[in-house]
Amino acid sequence: MRVDGRVAIVTGAARGIGAAIAETLAGAGASVVVSDLDAELGQAQASRIRDGGRRADAIAADVSRPAECDRLAAETERRHGAVHILVNCAAICPRIDIPDMTEPDYDRIMDTNLKSVYFLSRAAGRAMRRAGWGRIVNMTSVGARTGGMHRVTVYAASKAAIISMTKGFARHHAPDGILVNAVAPGAVDTRLIRMLPPEDRQATIDAIPLRRLSEPHEIARAVLFLASEENTYITGATTDINGGSFMPD
Ligand SMILES: NC(=O)c1ccc[n+]([C@@H]2O[C@H](COP(=O)([O-])OP(=O)(O)OC[C@H]3O[C@@H](n4cnc5c(N)ncnc54)[C@H](O)[C@@H]3O)[C@@H](O)[C@H]2O)c1
Repeated sequence: MRVDGRVAIVTGAARGIGAAIAETLAGAGASVVVSDLDAELGQAQASRIRDGGRRADAIAADVSRPAECDRLAAETERRHGAVHILVNCAAICPRIDIPDMTEPDYDRIMDTNLKSVYFLSRAAGRAMRRAGWGRIVNMTSVGARTGGMHRVTVYAASKAAIISMTKGFARHHAPDGILVNAVAPGAVDTRLIRMLPPEDRQATIDAIPLRRLSEPHEIARAVLFLASEENTYITGATTDINGGSFMPD
């Protein structure tokens, strides 16, 4: 699976799953824009990729703000001449019980996780249309299917909406040769899971038939396939990668 000559934006790419996706796409030949709210960590991740002999640079952006999404897409196109691949990976997952959720908390989760996907997909989609080829991969979650465990009701709802939004963008972009898909990881070994109390973390692992968390690169490999030319006919789909913890119909 190669993405030689392609320009890819990965959001939330300073750490965790996004960082693994940026490495994997760069390793398969793409020029990767590492984008994150954390400018310093994003720069560090881009230079780590460059140290490995691959192509990457960093553009910091707060993707919860539509103007920043427009700027990220425009700056990528200006620097690299095109945008071919977008991976919407940035998200937050604060654990807040239903009685304690404030309206600002609610808006912050929805804006970061969902509004970002809409406005950045729209901005990057325009650039992909100009380039004549495109792939968008959205990061949803097993929580979209289950409603979420451990105080993440709003997060899970934002991820469920991403599955629907993926279908809408897939239909919208189909005439332009742009394929739009989602990936739904189960529990992945990143800080999102490490922040769980030990008993919740163990309960999560116990509920996985494969009896272990996934590593970020196991998610990144599926993203690479969906973003590559090997994917010619999958669009509007959500791929579950969860060790068997949830098996939809
Ligand atoms: N870790 C898991 O178990 C798991 C499971 C299912 C889905 N996911 C999804 O995978 C994706 C990555 O998760 P992760 O575990 O690597 O998380 P993480 O917290 O390790 O990384 C998320 C990154 O997003 C960035 N970010 C947050 N808000 C942002 C904003 N407004 N603008 C730009 N960047 C912002 C953060 O700075 C961080 O670097 C998320 O979409 C998450 O919902 C994770």
